[in-house]
Amino acid sequence: MTSYKELGLVNTREMFAKAVAGGYAIPAFNFNTLEQMQAIVQAAVETKSPVIMQVSKGARNYANGTILRYMAQGAVEYAKELGCEKPQIVLHLDHGDSFELCKDCIDNGFSSVMFDGSSLPYEENIRITKQVVEYAHAHDVTVEAELGVLAGVEDEVASEVSHYTKPEEVVDFSTRSGCDSLAISIGTSHGAYKFTPEQCTRDPKTGKLVPPPLAFDILHEIEKKLPGFPIVLHGSSSVPQDEVDTINAHGGKLPDAVGIPEEQLREASKSAVCKINIDSDSRLAMTAAIRKHFDEKPGDFDPRQYLKPARENMKKMYIHKIVEVLGSNDKL
Ligand code: G3H
Ligand code: 13P
Ligand code: ZN
Repeated sequence: MTSYKELGLVNTREMFAKAVAGGYAIPAFNFNTLEQMQAIVQAAVETKSPVIMQVSKGARNYANGTILRYMAQGAVEYAKELGCEKPQIVLHLDHGDSFELCKDCIDNGFSSVMFDGSSLPYEENIRITKQVVEYAHAHDVTVEAELGVLAGVEDEVASEVSHYTKPEEVVDFSTRSGCDSLAISIGTSHGAYKFTPEQCTRDPKTGKLVPPPLAFDILHEIEKKLPGFPIVLHGSSSVPQDEVDTINAHGGKLPDAVGIPEEQLREASKSAVCKINIDSDSRLAMTAAIRKHFDEKPGDFDPRQYLKPARENMKKMYIHKIVEVLGSNDKL
């Protein structure tokens, strides 16, 4: 058993309470690689922001759970080395799909876990979330649950169709499950293709797709039912058009990729939404820099030559999200 406290990590309790009260959101960045981790820490330290580093089941399979745990410990030490006296870093399991996986993470240094029972029947979702909560709270680990289903086409956690969260269920669900935060479905989805072209309109000037707005009415109803309760938004990449254009200009093929407009995420950050999940934008920033490098410098073959600009590009994107969208800068 390794407690996250030994690794210098923190859980989300205090962080979320401050974010809800202060009208900003904590960035939750997924990571699988050293360069993502370095870029996240550099961005968080430079902006004086708390940060959630999150790991999916797929990331654990790719990079190895033990390595990721020590990377999170390394992140804390690295942040101190960069001059941050008291880093606020959470190591979070993203989309845990069983009690056993959540328990394994809690036993191995995670300070926060998500049990995603959103595709289960309601009572089954409550039952397993509650089981995770009981084990997690005994170890001072916080738990994110999910109610409502996100649509998406790309990754392991995607569903074909979305079902918005029903505001009339949130009090019963959070009370009976005991969860510390709740991920809701209001129109976001995972991946770089969040809406089909048919669901969007086209900007007549640029020809670019303009997605439909998020269901803020549902978010506000949920806020009224659960005043001050931490709400989480998954699938919140904005799929920056310049990165998509760079990828496509250098041999990539991402036609009609579209994300959530940043103005809407800015608005959500000011509400009870206190955690915003971003993975695809990091993938795009990394891929755009690497494709451009390969195209422009075909003689390079030392990975450091192309991973360095990739890391710089991700760092720039993380800083932009923290300062210009979520507002979590200067909060340490
Ligand atoms: O929500 C899912 C995250 O983007 C993680 O994706 O399962 O491909 O690691 P992944
Ligand atoms: P994006 O695919 O929009 O980055 O969402 C990531 C996410 O929700 C991770 O849980
Ligand atoms: Zn997610």
